Amino acid sequence: MEYTVLLLVHLGCAILFIGVVAFEVLFLEPIRTHLPDNMMELVEAGIHTRARRFMPFVVGLLFASGIGLLWRIYWGGWYPPFSSTFSTLLTVKILLAISVLVHFITAIRAAVCNTMTSRRFRLTHYSVFAHMILIVILAKAMTTL
Ligand code: HEM
Repeated sequence: MEYTVLLLVHLGCAILFIGVVAFEVLFLEPIRTHLPDNMMELVEAGIHTRARRFMPFVVGLLFASGIGLLWRIYWGGWYPPFSSTFSTLLTVKILLAISVLVHFITAIRAAVCNTMTSRRFRLTHYSVFAHMILIVILAKAMTTL
């Protein structure tokens, strides 16, 4: 029961987070070239406002449920890190997730301080998207290898 709840929350938040990042990379970035700069800035400002309200909650739950899964279900199979194939895949996945968190916090801070440029917005999107693809591959390899 505890496992099912933690897994459903983790998977649900992962779908939301990955979905938002995929939308930004696959839809938002390509329309940049078709819109005047000032219009794109307005679109980005709108996205920042929405993201500041919505995404911290999703990311917080994603990490809380991931830590819950690690602590309550997988501790014996994971610790010490790199001790088995499963442990190595999970450790790399956690390191990538921490890197995503650093991207996320610095992007939110830049948005609050008004230092987020379009170029930085774009690079952050591509980098987080690449992290997401690797995280999903590792997460599925963990349970199938
Ligand atoms: C950006 C952050 C993260 C994303 C996008 C993410 C995504 C995922 C996905 C897609 C799965 C596969 C779920 C399934 O289909 O069964 C998964 C599984 C898992 N994740 Fe994460 N995760 C993140 C962060 C974390 C963190 C920080 C931890 C631990 C500290 C963690 C621990 C786990 C564990 C233990 C599983 C295996 C669950 C199972 O299948 O039994 N995750 N994650």
